[in-house]
Amino acid sequence: MTIMPAPRHRAASRRPTWIIVLISLVCVTLIGAYVYPPRRYSACYFFASSVCSPFKDWLPAKRLRVLTDGEIASRVVFSDLIAMPTVQSKNPKIAFMFLTPGTLPFERLWAKFFQGHQGRYSIYIHASREKPVHVSPLFSDREIRSEKVVWGKVSMVDAEKRLLANALQDSDNQHFVLLSDSCVPLHNFDYVYNYLMGTNISFIDCFQDPGPHGNGRYSKHMLPEIEEDDFRKGAQWFSIKRQHALVILADSLYYTKFKLYCKPGMEGRRNCYADEHYLPTLFYMIDPTGIANWSVTHVDWSEGKWHPKAYRAKDVTFELLKNITSIDESFHVTSDEKKVVMRKPCLWNGMKRPCYLFARKFYPEALDNLMNLFSNYTTI
Ligand SMILES: *[C@@H]1O[C@H](CO)[C@@H](O)[C@H](O)[C@H]1NC(C)=O
Ligand SMILES: *[C@@H]1O[C@H](CO)[C@@H](O)[C@H](O)[C@H]1NC(C)=O
Ligand SMILES: *[C@@H]1O[C@H](CO)[C@@H](O)[C@H](O)[C@H]1NC(C)=O
Ligand SMILES: *[C@@H]1O[C@H](CO)[C@@H](O)[C@H](O)[C@H]1NC(C)=O
Repeated sequence: MTIMPAPRHRAASRRPTWIIVLISLVCVTLIGAYVYPPRRYSACYFFASSVCSPFKDWLPAKRLRVLTDGEIASRVVFSDLIAMPTVQSKNPKIAFMFLTPGTLPFERLWAKFFQGHQGRYSIYIHASREKPVHVSPLFSDREIRSEKVVWGKVSMVDAEKRLLANALQDSDNQHFVLLSDSCVPLHNFDYVYNYLMGTNISFIDCFQDPGPHGNGRYSKHMLPEIEEDDFRKGAQWFSIKRQHALVILADSLYYTKFKLYCKPGMEGRRNCYADEHYLPTLFYMIDPTGIANWSVTHVDWSEGKWHPKAYRAKDVTFELLKNITSIDESFHVTSDEKKVVMRKPCLWNGMKRPCYLFARKFYPEALDNLMNLFSNYTTI
C-alpha cells in the first residue's frame, strides 16, 4: 500500500519532460528542413519509395531562381515547338540519317530493307572521312556536305545537327533516325515504319548515372542553366519526331554549355562526351514525358569494356538475332561501385513491346550471314 503511489508519482513527473523533448525534436527537424531544403528529394533515401511519393509535394522544392534572358527565350520557343501539331503530310516519310566515315558496309542489307517502300523513306549520308562507294542506286547521291568528326568531341553533335538540318528541308519527313555504319535493321520496313510513326514520342536514351561516367563528367561551369541534378546520360543513336528535331536546331543556349564545358580532357582530367550527354540532358529538362528514355538501337555493353561487343560473322546466327529482337526491357547500369541495374519495360503507347528496331555493332564480314538470315529474322 505504501509502495504503490511512489512509482505512479515518478511516472507522472517524467511525462511532461518527454513530451517537451519530443516536440522540440520535431520542431528542430521542421526548421532544419526549411532552412536547408533537401536537393530535390534526397530525403527520399530514408523512406521506401512508395512511402516517399506523398512526401515529394510536401517537402520544400528546389529554390526558385530568376531565369536568365536566354533561358526565358529558349523555354518559350521550345514549348511552342513541342506543342506544335504534326504537319499533316500526304506522304509521311522517315528520314534515315547515316553517320559514317565512308562507305557503308551494310548498304546491300539496307537496300533489301528499303526495297519496295519507295516514297516512305529518305536517306541522308554524312560521310566524314571519304566519299562512299555505293552498291545500291537507293544510296547514290544521298551524301550531304560533311565535315570532319572526332570521336567524343562536339563535332559529333555538329554532324548530327547537319543531318537534321538537311533532312528537315523535306517537309514530308516526320521522324528522324540516326544510324551508324555498323548498324543493321532488326525488323522489316513496315514494322519499323509503324513502330516509329504510330507513336508521338521520341526514342532518346536517358538515365541518371551518379558514377564517374555519368555525373562525374558534369562541370559546375554549366551553372546556372544546368544543375548537376539535371545532368543525364544516354547513347547518341536517337530516333526523334519532327518537333524535337526542330528543338535541337533551335537550341543554342544548352548546346553552347556542352560545347564549352563537356569535352575530352576537361580541367586536365575530366573526360566529357557531348554526344552522350547533350540530348539526354536537354530533353530531360524540357520534355521528359516526350521521350521514351531508351534508344531503339540495341548495343551490348555487358562485357564491361571501353567499346561495346562487336559481332563477327560467326556470331551472327538466327538465335542471336532472335534474342535481340525479343528483348522487351530497357537496361541501364550505373558506373559507380554500386553498379545499380535499372530495368524498365519498353512501353509503346502503354503496351509492352520489343525495345529494338536496329542493332550495332557488326563487323563488315557479318554482311553475308545477315543477308541470308534477313527474311527469316525480320518476320519474327
Ligand atoms: C500523344 O498521343 C496521345 C494519344 O495517342 C495523346 O493522348 C497525347 O496527348 C499526345 N501527346 C502529344 C504531346 O501530342
Ligand atoms: C522518361 O523519364 C522521365 C523521368 O526522367 C519520365 O517523366 C517519363 O515519363 C519517362 N518517359 C516514359 C515514356 O516513360
Ligand atoms: C540467347 O539467349 C539465351 C537465353 O538468354 C542464351 O542462353 C543464349 O546463349 C543466347 N544466344 C546467343 C547466340 O546470344
Ligand atoms: C528460315 O526459316 C525457315 C522456316 O521457318 C527454316 O526452314 C529455315 O531453316 C530458316 N533458315 C535459317 C538460315 O535459319
